[in-house]
Amino acid sequence: MPLHVEPNSVPRTLSSASLYVNNVLNIFKQEPISLPHGSMGWPLLGETLGFLKPHKSNSMGSFLQQHCSRYGRVFKSHLFGYPTIVSCDLELNAYILQNEGRLFQSSYPKPVHDILGKLSLMLVCGELHKKLRNVAVSFISTYKSRPDLHHYVEKLSISVMKSWKDRQQVLFFKEAKQFTLHLMLKNLLNIEPEEPRALTILEDFLTFMKGFVSLPLYVPGTPYTKAVKARARISSTLKEIIEEREKSDLGIAKGDFVHDFLLKGSLNMEEKVSIVMDLLLAGYETTSGLLALVVHFLGQAPSVLEQLKDEHQALSRSKKKGEPLSWEHYKKMELTSKDPATSKKVTPFGGGLRLCPGPELGKVETAFFLHHLVLNYRWKTREDDYPMSYPYMEFKKGLLLEIEPTEKRI
Ligand code: HEM
Repeated sequence: MPLHVEPNSVPRTLSSASLYVNNVLNIFKQEPISLPHGSMGWPLLGETLGFLKPHKSNSMGSFLQQHCSRYGRVFKSHLFGYPTIVSCDLELNAYILQNEGRLFQSSYPKPVHDILGKLSLMLVCGELHKKLRNVAVSFISTYKSRPDLHHYVEKLSISVMKSWKDRQQVLFFKEAKQFTLHLMLKNLLNIEPEEPRALTILEDFLTFMKGFVSLPLYVPGTPYTKAVKARARISSTLKEIIEEREKSDLGIAKGDFVHDFLLKGSLNMEEKVSIVMDLLLAGYETTSGLLALVVHFLGQAPSVLEQLKDEHQALSRSKKKGEPLSWEHYKKMELTSKDPATSKKVTPFGGGLRLCPGPELGKVETAFFLHHLVLNYRWKTREDDYPMSYPYMEFKKGLLLEIEPTEKRI
């Protein structure tokens, strides 16, 4: 065993969509025989501030870099109020993820429970995790293969393109977040982008993400406190929506998640609200990040962008006039759907019992949006506008694009 963690002591991954995975292992039960080198930092605060220091997303950041070079890729520390072992070792991380439920059990520090809610998929274990994960997986596999839902992705992409018609600049990351949240709201709850609730939920999610991994200070005005409050507001809005639907449309086939899974299933209200919240968050935050990163890197690689454009122009020529994009078209987007991130060096989709069930869905949404983007616009990014890890991902200037219509318009 590379780490002296007792069976069922409490390790936890803080794996993220960034291109490295760091596992934070909290050891509560027994003093291990020997601990890796490292520093416990300041009383109470430990090394949390250094760990959270913003850095460019394409680097490990100075905290991990300095600690790895001083102590090795596995080191001890004190984070978020707990003695911790941090692992930047890919093999060890994979080993831990693969052995969840056998040698290790997942858990997060208490402040994360307060922010996510105790039934969040990230926090629950064992049978409850299995039950809630099944609901999520069923939703994702149904959604992935339904032509009407693919049409909706395309319809929304086209409406974003139209909304940029008279603009020279767009703040792309915000647009991408709006786009992916609107998709999830429609497919989970049948909420249209124009509804005021869509805007409220987006604003609450933006606040939520800022405090999601922040210093857990429960004092008015901190990102953490604002995030806990934003989560409570999202939960009560979702509860209201589900209750309305339970009263009004039992038996009416709306074809969304509430109808197909929640009204028929055996979840109690708290579980229903929690799984909708999980799917909204998991489905919108990650996909908008993927979309923004693709647009950012394409802006810096004109030759790849040209090849991508060729692929989409050829696809567009091969379709009948007005024919919507389908799963078969997606499969033909060879360059677009290529996945350079999934290599042996990074595990962007986690692993083991918690392996992400949604990458294909995120990729198809991204591909359909890109199809319309490259056919309709050219764009330039700014040099001083790069992705940062706060540790949630944000662009320095919001990914401000200078846009110009191509010859072939929407
Ligand atoms: C396309 C980019 C995406 C990335 C990079 C990504 C990444 C991840 C990662 C790293 C995890 C593991 C979290 C953990 O260890 O606790 C995860 C879990 C999950 N993801 Fe994704 N994801 C993506 C898209 C999606 C989409 C579109 C959905 C659909 C709603 C989705 C739904 C989920 C769910 C439900 C889980 C929890 C699984 C469980 O706990 O059993 N993801 N994702």
